[in-house]
Amino acid sequence: MNIVEVNGLTKIYGGRKAVDSISFEIKQGEVFGLLGPNGAGKTTTISMLSCLIRPTSGDAFIDEKSIIKEPMEVKKRIGVVPQDIALYPTLSARENLFFWGEMYGMSGKKLRKRVDEVLQIVSLTKRSGDPIYKYSGGMKRRINIAVGLLPSPKLLILDEPTVGVDPQSRRNILDTLKELNENGLTILYTSHYMEEVEFLCNRIGIMDRGKIIALGTKDELRLLVGERDLLKILTINEIPKSLAETIKKKAPEINKVEIFDSSIEILTLNGRKILPKILEVLLESGVNIKSVEVREPNLESVFLHLTGKKLRD
Ligand SMILES: Nc1ncnc2c1ncn2[C@@H]1O[C@H](COP(=O)(O)OP(=O)(O)O)[C@@H](O)[C@H]1O
Ligand SMILES: [Mg+2]
Repeated sequence: MNIVEVNGLTKIYGGRKAVDSISFEIKQGEVFGLLGPNGAGKTTTISMLSCLIRPTSGDAFIDEKSIIKEPMEVKKRIGVVPQDIALYPTLSARENLFFWGEMYGMSGKKLRKRVDEVLQIVSLTKRSGDPIYKYSGGMKRRINIAVGLLPSPKLLILDEPTVGVDPQSRRNILDTLKELNENGLTILYTSHYMEEVEFLCNRIGIMDRGKIIALGTKDELRLLVGERDLLKILTINEIPKSLAETIKKKAPEINKVEIFDSSIEILTLNGRKILPKILEVLLESGVNIKSVEVREPNLESVFLHLTGKKLRD
């Protein structure tokens, strides 16, 4: 069953399409990832799905409820973890959770029980009496996730929950989400970190400039770039841009050559076999090589292949 169905969702700001007619589905029980660089339209998409902003056109259904016609019904079914942290610094984590629980219409014993549960889930029970201002950025994010979980939503929506977070909290967040999903929670996760999306998500929509430019499982997306490898060569001196043509002539089987100031990236089949030819061209042109890396296809190379640019430019 699809718990989310998005049909031609569009948001236009001052003539610019922040989200450009996107469509996708999320099945019950899966972790769906929206992967894309800054400005791709992830937050705008999430804001529309959580009924914070109104789409310019298109619609989406969460648990069969329209975000346009039945926003109150939609809100009852989702937990949202926004990027901005809406916590009171002088109140303890526990007090913040009580505050939010009451906002969700919870109270009494039921609320107390749920607060204990969500604190446990994000592993912050011990620190729950400390005021929020004593928390690290990562711990605040974990409390934000706890807030999103309070109403026991059918769908948890997270907006880049690991940005600017310490490694320990990052690990904790990813493991927590994995476990929640294994216990049946459906998750919509956005990120510009492909490693996270690869670790967590069953299916992934790659977003760029408001559009979903590819969608599928990790393996399906990898197939888009075939079995191509990404060769990354770092150099000591600057590489002349004209070398791209020379390299392509020497090894016509190469799919793509990108030359940056002191690095070069090549997308090709049989990377290891082709590497000597490329090194030869570089050495002949007086380029000194610092390091060479051959990478198996991953979502980063899928993105590079589809857009000609890197996820984190
Ligand atoms: N309130 C707004 N007014 C005008 N432009 C906006 C607004 N919100 C987002 N945008 C623009 O829409 C595009 C997508 O932004 P956003 O959804 O925040 O991307 P992401 O979350 O993937 O970084 C960007 O070009 C951004 O500048
Ligand atoms: Mg964003």
